[in-house]
Amino acid sequence: METIQTFTSELSILEISYLVASVLFILGLKKLSHPATARSGNLWAAAGMGAAILFTILFHQKDGQPIGNVIWIVVALAIGSFMGWYASIKVKMTAMPQMVSIFNGMGGACAALISMMEFPKMQDHLAQTGAAHMLGGEGIAILLGLMIGGVSFAGSMIAFGKLDGRIGDFKHPILRIINLTFLVGLFVALVLILFMKPEAGNNLPIYLFAVAALIYGVTFVMPIGGADMPVVISLLNSFTGVAAAMGGFLYGNQAMLTGGILVGSSGTILTILMCRAMNRSLLNVIIGAFGVAGAAGTEDGDKTVKEISLSDAAVLLSYSQKIFIVPGYGLAVAQAQHLCHELDNLLASKGVEVKYAIHPVAGRMPGHMNVLLAEADVPYEKLVEMEDANNEMSNTDVVIVIGANDVVNPAAEDDPSSPIYGMPIIKALDAKNVIVMKRSMAAGYAAIPNNLFYHQKNRMLFGDAKATLQKLVAEIKSL
Ligand code: TAP
Repeated sequence: METIQTFTSELSILEISYLVASVLFILGLKKLSHPATARSGNLWAAAGMGAAILFTILFHQKDGQPIGNVIWIVVALAIGSFMGWYASIKVKMTAMPQMVSIFNGMGGACAALISMMEFPKMQDHLAQTGAAHMLGGEGIAILLGLMIGGVSFAGSMIAFGKLDGRIGDFKHPILRIINLTFLVGLFVALVLILFMKPEAGNNLPIYLFAVAALIYGVTFVMPIGGADMPVVISLLNSFTGVAAAMGGFLYGNQAMLTGGILVGSSGTILTILMCRAMNRSLLNVIIGAFGVAGAAGTEDGDKTVKEISLSDAAVLLSYSQKIFIVPGYGLAVAQAQHLCHELDNLLASKGVEVKYAIHPVAGRMPGHMNVLLAEADVPYEKLVEMEDANNEMSNTDVVIVIGANDVVNPAAEDDPSSPIYGMPIIKALDAKNVIVMKRSMAAGYAAIPNNLFYHQKNRMLFGDAKATLQKLVAEIKSL
């Protein structure tokens, strides 16, 4: 009687801890949706995960037995936590997508390994009971977990290699056929394995299945353009979530199940939002029509580009009433966010109203500009979302575009032949003056020309964003 009571109360503690962990995941995710609360949101979700792990180690039981191998688990946790912590403090802001990619790949690998471990046990058990096949919830969860986790792991590793410049793009029409064959083949194999007669020790089919999933992960990501990787990583991230949810289903672990579902659904939503903000379909990203079609868009050879001197720029900015800064990928590359904030403070001290117009896909990852500017302590209230910023453009004296290109390209509105036609942009030309800071006339990520640079309202301030901002700040101080 005593034993049963202890067992029941421990089980309910575990269930309550999973419920609390799930609530913390959801609240953490909610807080992640605003820069001011994002940091604490991360901590809340991490606390939920920590609680789920701790309570599982303490209270999980199988056939009335507590969890074994605790020392091994704690050592693995310590090594993993140290590696994660070290990578996070060392990573450069522009290398964040690479890190996300590796972490995501590890999640996929874990889900796949769980399946590799559980399949032989399930098969042995079914063989003993004399079952005719392996069709059932457990078998489906194991095989889906292996397939999705394997694809996510291999795909994420290739994505990491591409983002880090270690692997080039490999585009060939044959890859489409190979990919389709592998995808269909994987589903057919999954069904065949489920209908196989269980035979103790017959693990070859699952090993081959795992290898096929890994190969598909590689061939799926190989043809996708390196710069499209953030969208693909977000997609692979949702795959990892689904694979983890399969593990949660398998073990009846509600925290793993909810966590996996949340990652899967938020990754899918993020993928859709990123595609929408770029006005591209997911298929278009996967097939890779941006960048390669760089010739699209019009450029008139007769147009002239006007430059502005540092002193003229300093005067124009100092005597303005309202300024919008449009940050872009180049600002992140130049690591000029602190100088950008210094310029903003300097102008504010002269009575100029300075705000930042944030395009949802400025930079190379979701929220890139928000994180970059937060790092330089720019107050969140100064960051204005694209639509609101556009509404304020007509009463803005100067728009300073720093290392941005596609997100201010008017071709998105007035050139139906442009690959970015339909993508929402920051309407810099609605302001009275525009200054674009970049190093050359080179194109941005979409590899198309930008007519904003030739517009009479615009003047170019050429140079590296950091060096130029440094000189500009000095010039304004000397006025
Ligand atoms: P881009 O269009 O890529 O333009 C960045 C510009 O920065 C370049 O034209 C480059 O011109 C300039 N630059 C580079 N290094 C610089 C430096 N050190 N100093 C000054 N300028 C520098 O950037 P964007 O406007 O931020 O647009 C983002 C693009 O990425 C969009 O096309 C978007 O669709 C795509 N994308 C975004 C995401 C997310 S989620 N953010 C994901 C995937 C793709 P110079 O070489 O002449 O200096």
